Amino acid sequence: MHITLETKPFAALETDALVSYVFDESDPIQGRISEIDTAAGGFLKKLAKSGEFSGKPLETTLLHAVAGLKAVRLLLLGAGKREKFDNAALRKLAGVATRYLKTRSVHNFAFVVRENDATEDFAQAIVEGAIAADFESDKYKTDKKNDKFIDSLAIAGYSDAERAAGEKGLARGRIIGESQSFARDLINEPSNKLTPKILAEKAEAMAKQAGLAVEILDERKIADLKMGALLSVSQGGPEPPRMIVVTYTPADPKPGAPVIGLVGKAVTFDTGGISIKPADGMEKMKYDMAGGATMLGVMRALATLKPNVKVICVVPATENMPGGTAQKPGDIQTAMSGKTIEVLNTDAEGRLILADGVHYAKQLGATHLVDAATLTGAIVVALASINVGVFSGADQTWTDKLLASAKAVGEKMWQLPMDDEYREFIKGTVADIQNIGSGKGGGSITGAWFIREFAGDTPWIHLDIAGTAWNDDAKPWLAKGPTGVALRTLVHLAMSY
Ligand code: BES
Ligand code: ZN
Ligand code: ZN
Repeated sequence: MHITLETKPFAALETDALVSYVFDESDPIQGRISEIDTAAGGFLKKLAKSGEFSGKPLETTLLHAVAGLKAVRLLLLGAGKREKFDNAALRKLAGVATRYLKTRSVHNFAFVVRENDATEDFAQAIVEGAIAADFESDKYKTDKKNDKFIDSLAIAGYSDAERAAGEKGLARGRIIGESQSFARDLINEPSNKLTPKILAEKAEAMAKQAGLAVEILDERKIADLKMGALLSVSQGGPEPPRMIVVTYTPADPKPGAPVIGLVGKAVTFDTGGISIKPADGMEKMKYDMAGGATMLGVMRALATLKPNVKVICVVPATENMPGGTAQKPGDIQTAMSGKTIEVLNTDAEGRLILADGVHYAKQLGATHLVDAATLTGAIVVALASINVGVFSGADQTWTDKLLASAKAVGEKMWQLPMDDEYREFIKGTVADIQNIGSGKGGGSITGAWFIREFAGDTPWIHLDIAGTAWNDDAKPWLAKGPTGVALRTLVHLAMSY
């Protein structure tokens, strides 16, 4: 998508659609909308009076050939209450405009921001929203005659004095938006097209192109390093595992400065192993590598945005298969850290591979950890597909920093409790720990506690994205399929250094 910033008066914009938004307020024809109304000879006021639009969230009103405008169409979007309007609402509106117009085979539009909204942050949000909304899962469709796409977007409503800020936001939004699409493309790949080996190759290609350091550990190196927890999962099938390490180092690294470790679960297909999953819906388990893909997307963005902090990304990648060589319930494995694990359920494999991933990230020098994983079905019960589940180690300051980033970029996240009592659930009877809880309930918390055992005293956050990484139903601003959730938060977190 070609995206530009336009400082011309909107009435003179030659575009297939001029898009703006109205608030839910007693007189919606105010400020910039009133300027458009004046150009249109009072037409909008008349429509507003007749109740044609209310400004309610996500309302769409499409008007054709409005006199006084050079644009072919005028699309007015409902923005809800003015007091509640923020970058998250704007991002969604840019997405709604993109999807609404492209389904009508409109290929370009100008998005006009309201009075007071011509900021860097808002330009970024519009670009992110438009790129995210343009994403479709049609790579494997052979009929390429699809004319439902947007090829250019002009962001308008910025004055000459506001141009520099707008351009800055636009550039950042593009990097983040495209990195999110990179992650979503990976998540979409079926398991026959994206094995751990192929994921590692794609990560390596991305890192080299972006100028990031990369190291891929193959199955021999993984065995040499005694990553027994990762190996126990990969032994169930013929595809060898990979441990992917991508590192960003700032230009002027300071000794003793914090080092962020991003660890992402990448199970390229989760059958459940011997504790096999039901057939119904199993196809969705191709997205069990969303955590890893998201972390790689974060690294891709950071390579260009260049935060002032070192970031090490560790992605353990494997299939979870029920072959003849698969681990069996009751097997005892030794993780890289030396801890022994009784594997009571082979379907709780994400925590096993993260055990070695987290331990390795620490060994590589990470002082502050975040892991992201499609870890538990239980998080869907707790938070549905609305909030990412957040679990914190002892250092709440680190978690608060992440939650502040999530808020700033409009990603919904909700922290769950990690009382010591839950830790009892995974105390082992025959090994140090067991990979599922013996108590009833709290499945997402026991999963988090298991990983925490390997983070130790290092500040650590676990993000359970099982409910939020995949969009089951298309939304007006987002296609069905992978979401790339948490990427924007983690980029913001790194950029806050
Ligand atoms: N990959 C699944 C979790 C999952 C479930 C992701 C639904 C996306 C949607 C994970 O490996 C798993 O199977 N977890 C088990 C854990 C249980 C055995 C303790 C689960 O949630 O059922
Ligand atoms: Zn599983
Ligand atoms: Zn899994």
